[in-house]
Amino acid sequence: MSARLIDGNKISLELRTQLKAQVAQRVEQGLSQPGLAVILVGEDPASAVYVEKKVKACEEIGFNSQKVVFPKSVSQEELIAQIEQFNKDNNIHGILVQLPLPAHIDASQVLETIRADKDVDGFHPYNIGRLTQRIPQLRPCTPFGIMIMLESCDIDVKGMNCLVVGASNIVGRPMAMELLLAGATVTICHKFTTDLAEHVSRADMLVVGVGIPHLVKGEWIKPGAIVIDVGINRLEDGSLTGDVEFEVASQKASWITPVPGGVGPMTVATLMKNTLLAAEKLDNKS
Ligand code: GUN
Repeated sequence: MSARLIDGNKISLELRTQLKAQVAQRVEQGLSQPGLAVILVGEDPASAVYVEKKVKACEEIGFNSQKVVFPKSVSQEELIAQIEQFNKDNNIHGILVQLPLPAHIDASQVLETIRADKDVDGFHPYNIGRLTQRIPQLRPCTPFGIMIMLESCDIDVKGMNCLVVGASNIVGRPMAMELLLAGATVTICHKFTTDLAEHVSRADMLVVGVGIPHLVKGEWIKPGAIVIDVGINRLEDGSLTGDVEFEVASQKASWITPVPGGVGPMTVATLMKNTLLAAEKLDNKS
């Protein structure tokens, strides 16, 4: 392997340690503990694991957390009523609804019910719009976490040809906006793209978030490119793997994120950062 590893466990631990100290300082000054409300619908095992990680991170850092679990039969009205209650609750500074939601729920309406200044996932159209207009406030956690990772490795994307593979609302689209904000030339590939290999071969950096194991072949990668793999796919043998062929890719790349231990832990740490930012802003409003 010739690539340097971007260690998400280490970088996220540094961020969480920093946040923990900031929370302790807040509490010493008589300010409130940040509070995060997490809403889970249904029993999807992966979603349940992610929610547990978020609740545990809150405990570690010194946040309050409230977890509400609804059965997958929950109605749109019940879900919205719960969000409205958290919107009004002064002890709650951040609200997140774990995605995906069951098909009968209108996810856009649910996400738009969350107060924009408590939207610590950064998915509300207000927050996406602000990021798009270069005036970010609360920023989607995975893309923001990737930018923090790059910064901690002293990687500046300004002027780079960056390729985002996947155009989801959670990763691809906001990732493209983060990279554009940072001065990169950005291309987005998606399921209708016909020449993915060619795009990958031209990219100085690629961020891949599609959820298809080993979609991006190591041999396509430009020598010296930076490879950020957002995919977390469980194989039949129970092991986790990314969307990029790691073994071959790491022979060609200059930097690469592993799966697990790359982007995943950064998403949770960035959610904690957003919750603290939301709490600080809400303090100033009251
Ligand atoms: N499902 C997959 N990723 C995420 C995320 O970052 N936030 C939420 N709320 N749901 C997700």
